[in-house]
Amino acid sequence: MTRHFLTMTDLSVAELRSLLHRAAELKQRPAAAKPVLAGRTVALVFQKPSMRTRVAFEVAVLRLGGAAIYLGQDDIQLGQREPIQDVARVLSRYVDGIVVRTFGHADVEAFARYARCPVINGLSDAVHPCQALADLLTIQEAFGRLKALTVAYVGDGNNVLHSLVQGCAMLGLSLSAATPTGYRPNAALWAAAARDGKRHGATIAWTSHPAQAVRGADVVYTDVWTSMGQERERAVRLKAFRGYQINRSLLAKAKPGARIMHCLPAHRGEEITDDVMEHRRSLIFDQAENRLHAHAALLEFLFRR
Ligand code: CP
Ligand code: NVA
Repeated sequence: MTRHFLTMTDLSVAELRSLLHRAAELKQRPAAAKPVLAGRTVALVFQKPSMRTRVAFEVAVLRLGGAAIYLGQDDIQLGQREPIQDVARVLSRYVDGIVVRTFGHADVEAFARYARCPVINGLSDAVHPCQALADLLTIQEAFGRLKALTVAYVGDGNNVLHSLVQGCAMLGLSLSAATPTGYRPNAALWAAAARDGKRHGATIAWTSHPAQAVRGADVVYTDVWTSMGQERERAVRLKAFRGYQINRSLLAKAKPGARIMHCLPAHRGEEITDDVMEHRRSLIFDQAENRLHAHAALLEFLFRR
């Protein structure tokens, strides 16, 4: 059966754990990657810009013996030149896997429905599961475990938070999010993650107070206030998110030694200050590197023969 990876819950908890274990192994020994993509091609269909997702996938595909083809918005003009179901059907007769970065999540789902090969969500407006894999790998690496930890997320209730909370809930990590009331995470996704977290011994909590969210946190995580596609809302958002910045004073309210995370790209001076980005307790650049190892493990898993 063709497996897709559109959202974190497409993996079982056991699969997620083993994928993270494998990603850590591949980080130590990249040459140990299985050549599961030898003679195979993976297309990257991107409607939005990308550095990490694109480069990490292209390099991971190469490490597994395959070739990657990047198709930007000008090439395919997704949904404009022809319907997604036609793109998915045609493309998957040429290539063996497709990574899609879209606006609407329904578009990634349409890809998966019509493609005859594995489809990976390289970010939609709803979720960013490939990011969450790297986030969990980074936490596992920094703390040597994936239990009895609390992650605080401060900022926008967006795609990155959605996948992070799903992943934390699956592994029994507690997560406490602070967002402005008007920018809360998706209610249905949140409720499901809270239930899942409870089953795995984790508390999933929301507040509108950043100081409350970071209290007792082992990790303080943030993302941009204005995501790709929301540029017109920038002025309103800058105002709404005032007070949600990760700076020294907020960091001081977390656990002593708390680590700092950001999926990047960062808008320095908005959601995070320069000095916190450059802090010795920042995991941000390890986190970015870990995209590569997480993608390699994901590709090995989806394309195992
Ligand atoms: N974090 C992340 O997905 O970065 P890119 O947008 O550069 O791929
Ligand atoms: N929330 C951000 C993440 C970028 C990796 C966005 O969607 O633009």
